[in-house]
Amino acid sequence: MILKAVLLLGCALGISTFPMEEPEDGGKHWVVIVAGSNGWYNYRHQADVCHAYQIVHRNGIPDKQIIVMMYDDIADNEDQPKALSSIDLMAQMCMLECPRTIQRSHGAPGLLAFPDDDLHVKDLNKTIWYMYHHKKYQKMVFYIEACESGSMMNHLADNINVYATTAANPKESSYACYYDDERQTYLGDWYSVNWMEDSDMEDLRKETLHKQFQLVKKRTNTSHVMQYGNRSISSMKVMQFQGKGKKAMPISLPPVEKYDLTPSPDVPFAIMKRKLMATNDISEAKKIAAQMKAYLEVKEFIQESMQKIVTIVTGSTEQTKQILSDRLTISNYDCYQSAANYFKAHCFNWHLPVYEYALRQLYALVNLCEGGYPIERIFLAMNRVCLGN
Ligand SMILES: *[C@@H]1O[C@H](CO)[C@@H](O)[C@H](O)[C@H]1NC(C)=O
Ligand SMILES: *[C@@H]1O[C@H](CO)[C@@H](O)[C@H](O)[C@H]1NC(C)=O
Ligand SMILES: *[C@@H]1O[C@H](CO)[C@@H](O)[C@H](O)[C@H]1NC(C)=O
Repeated sequence: MILKAVLLLGCALGISTFPMEEPEDGGKHWVVIVAGSNGWYNYRHQADVCHAYQIVHRNGIPDKQIIVMMYDDIADNEDQPKALSSIDLMAQMCMLECPRTIQRSHGAPGLLAFPDDDLHVKDLNKTIWYMYHHKKYQKMVFYIEACESGSMMNHLADNINVYATTAANPKESSYACYYDDERQTYLGDWYSVNWMEDSDMEDLRKETLHKQFQLVKKRTNTSHVMQYGNRSISSMKVMQFQGKGKKAMPISLPPVEKYDLTPSPDVPFAIMKRKLMATNDISEAKKIAAQMKAYLEVKEFIQESMQKIVTIVTGSTEQTKQILSDRLTISNYDCYQSAANYFKAHCFNWHLPVYEYALRQLYALVNLCEGGYPIERIFLAMNRVCLGN
């Protein structure tokens, strides 16, 4: 039998395992950490992943049992400021020390978006139950950072030895933090940074998951940090999931001057704004202003399209207003998954950076499904609005 912990962090996922016979110090721990996204403007997710790697590495998990999955575009990205060496510290650390495969993701209600596919809550649930039935773990712990990340776990059963904490409840954004003027991007995500800085500073052989949850919940003041599943597991020590009991010195961190807390969905625009303010070059400024204008136009176009779809489905102004303002909890997973997939295939493919904002409109599809509108009707409305037939 195997004892296992799963950490999903900064749009990232980690799994650690060790045999039950020697849960304190023996056997194998596995850690899988998945970076959520690509692009220089999402630098922070990959920085989070490297930070997480450092924590479990320092706490004694052997490198060959740490799998880091991240999109391999940071080290030689054209947006990387030329003043920095082409391989900066973060990328260097990751490239040299982490065994890697490539992945990325973004949150929306009930799904995490990966490059060519999405991890839907239904499939994550299926996977967890499969692992439970096949005794692939004794205990599992998730840390999930993504917008609406509570929606990935709020159905979690309390009798399958899984405990999860998430950056946000099912209905709200998570936040980016630490804008860096030199790199011109955010360096962290507020919830992930808070639990990881806590893991840096505390003695993890003494601190319980529950204590860490409380501290992180208090510090993460921009969203509601949540916990799900079997809460008794949180009386266990953090070290049992993030390390192998090796004596790691707690790290003291330098004081922080500014946090730059920014809702994740606003990050691309916030970066453009900061770049515009920072430049003295007229032609550069014009270029950025044009990018900002284009960004807002696409965003508006996506919003309008969803509004048209909802109007056609409901056939009523009143109901349309309701559907566009509600934040209902998903219970009809099949309807929602079909509607989201259809929207992706025929309206806006959010895997393309230009349409990433489409993820922020999926809540309306949740509401339509929960409102009992038939999926065929939703398909037809999308055909009319997005395909013009
Ligand atoms: C999760 O999967 C289990 C096992 O297949 C199933 O009984 C349960 O209803 C599922 N829960 C959700 C919320 O889909
Ligand atoms: C929750 O976990 C605790 C500690 O592992 C265990 O004793 C308890 O039986 C679990 N609860 C359920 C409902 O499975
Ligand atoms: C959240 O906490 C940070 C750091 O303690 C603080 O700078 C910020 O003003 C707080 N924001 C809100 C919305 O309370």
